[in-house]
Amino acid sequence: MTGSPEIFEPAQIGGISIRNRIIRSATHEGMADADGAPLESLEKLYVRLARGGVGAIVTGYAAVLPQGRCSFPGMLMMHDDALVPAYRRLVDAVHREGVPLIMQLAHCGSQTRSAVTGMRTAAPSPIRDRFYSEDVPEELTEEGIREIIDAFVAAAARAQAAGFDGVQLHLAHGYLLAQFLSGHTNRRRDRWGGSLENRFRIVSEIMAGIRRRLGEYPVLAKMNGFDGMPGGMRRDEAVKVAMLLESSRCSAVEISSGTIGEGLSIMRGPRVPTDAILAANFKLAAVPGMLKPFMARILPLIGPKSPKPYRSYNLEVASVIRNAVSIPVVVVGGIHVFEDASKAITSGSADFVSMSRPFIIEPAIVRKYQEGRQDSSRCTMCNYCTIMIEKGPLRCWNGRLPQGA
Ligand SMILES: Cc1cc2nc3c(=O)[nH]c(=O)nc-3n(C[C@H](O)[C@H](O)[C@H](O)COP(=O)(O)O)c2cc1C
Repeated sequence: MTGSPEIFEPAQIGGISIRNRIIRSATHEGMADADGAPLESLEKLYVRLARGGVGAIVTGYAAVLPQGRCSFPGMLMMHDDALVPAYRRLVDAVHREGVPLIMQLAHCGSQTRSAVTGMRTAAPSPIRDRFYSEDVPEELTEEGIREIIDAFVAAAARAQAAGFDGVQLHLAHGYLLAQFLSGHTNRRRDRWGGSLENRFRIVSEIMAGIRRRLGEYPVLAKMNGFDGMPGGMRRDEAVKVAMLLESSRCSAVEISSGTIGEGLSIMRGPRVPTDAILAANFKLAAVPGMLKPFMARILPLIGPKSPKPYRSYNLEVASVIRNAVSIPVVVVGGIHVFEDASKAITSGSADFVSMSRPFIIEPAIVRKYQEGRQDSSRCTMCNYCTIMIEKGPLRCWNGRLPQGA
């Protein structure tokens, strides 16, 4: 084993005790029923992860309002008190394994499809999304923004009532709260746009609402250290966002990067998953079968590219943020080699590491690292998992679709 044992020492994150410093980063599982309640398959997955040695689990994103639902099937919802008992069963199952469970709360803003939600998309400004380009989102009114703030606070209260150890606000990857933070998507001239303080206002009001209602309940945030959109999030501004989060009494920050519209920037990898895109992408559903071989040839040229490097690509910005704040910093993104994970901690760049794709192919990856049985994830970063969630529940496809998919 080439890593240091420090990563396996118990630690605290925002008052949550965890047995090591490796977290399962939020990953949409597509394992909820039509109401957004977790299915038994999700409980089974979390129990496997817990038994496999992970320190803490963050759920896939859960929508705080029906309008904020994503375009993939099986999304978790947290918009209704009636969902609490189903979540309590899920939380209890994970707690029996001694592992904390944190619920990620989100609103997709313009990164969803009205064809799926049945409602017009909403965003800080009426800017057509690069990927979900079907309609121009409705510009949120003051009343609409208030409704969203209240929905995040109410969802956090439901999470607490269900026994979750904390919540994580999804401020990353170009979803609604990231759309407010980014100068690319937020062109408002009122108190919700313009200066960074104004763009951050929606987050600070959510934080204040949660603190008023739930006291010191752990509230983490996942945010972008940068993105690739013109006029979007850059490192210097991200550092200020992290500082504003700290002054809003956020418990910890997880550092990611990228937006859906940039292609494979959030979860990077060396190749364009062409046949998965052809099989699952809603925009290509109308392409006649006879054109698909042609598309398969041109997609690698015109399809979503991934920036480089593929390993530890958010570590540098996480390190800068860690020097600027005193709350714990988690880093995610291409940390698939045990030595990289270990170094992220021992070098002082981050307090915790988190992973997504390595847990999809091997839910017990942490135990394998700890027992010295493996020093790298078997994930090839093919990203078929990312594309195929449009069709059904999360699974590892290992770079191949079965015949007829
Ligand atoms: C299938 C899939 C679903 C994802 N769903 C979410 C999500 O619900 N919320 C979130 O913040 N990130 C989500 N992500 C991004 C991951 O949490 C993580 O930031 C990204 O995959 C990079 O980490 P990795 O290299 O360890 O996979 C998802 C990633 C994948 C592959």
